[in-house]
Amino acid sequence: MSINIAIDGPAGAGKSTIAKRVAKELEYIYVDTGAMYRAMAYYFLQKGISPEDEGKISEECKNAEISIAYQNGEQQVILNGENVTAYIRKEEVGNMASATSVYPKVREKLVELQKELAKKSNVIMDGRDIGTCVLPDAQVKIYLTASVQTRAKRRYDELKEKGVSCNIEEIQKDIEDRDYRDMHREMSPLKQAEDAVLLDSSELNIDEVVLAIEKICKEKGIV
Ligand code: DC
Repeated sequence: MSINIAIDGPAGAGKSTIAKRVAKELEYIYVDTGAMYRAMAYYFLQKGISPEDEGKISEECKNAEISIAYQNGEQQVILNGENVTAYIRKEEVGNMASATSVYPKVREKLVELQKELAKKSNVIMDGRDIGTCVLPDAQVKIYLTASVQTRAKRRYDELKEKGVSCNIEEIQKDIEDRDYRDMHREMSPLKQAEDAVLLDSSELNIDEVVLAIEKICKEKGIV
């Protein structure tokens, strides 16, 4: 039986950075489920579909074949045979992913793929509904969060470093809107699973969070 670690939490809490590090140390496969919703959203954007048009989205998501592959240990997302990894990080795609991930047809398709991946290998999977819905039997569940101010500041620093001009108030507003949508949608909203361990990274650096998760994994007896 494969071992599964679930990491959920709001946008910008550091899930992917942390999950990648833990995956490397434990030699697990890292699965970024947000990237799958982003690839699907990228498909809808390319087709010019409105995020409000549930009928069209439910129909069109059948034509978006998504899979993942690994290149030098980095997850790549393949959409209908094309590697779209480089195109899905923009705010526009993130917001479209948040808006279109509310639809059952989109979620059903991607959740099935995620469950398949976790059945085959030891995975550390991050997202919003991993501990509550995708992997309810995961051996370790973490709910990783940080204050909205900390998350906005991290995002601001990240964009600044890339030379992208940005406004911290706008970033914070964007994060708040996304949190609200992700936490209040009807199907599998973002919430802490009852058996998840809460980790607030506002005052912790990456190494400290990784150490905390490794400690939890030891306590659960999986390493
Ligand atoms: O983690 P991220 O920012 O890449 O995710 C983009 C959006 O995808 C997020 O705002 C909500 C959606 N998402 C989801 O609904 N369920 C997941 N397991 C992962 C992401």
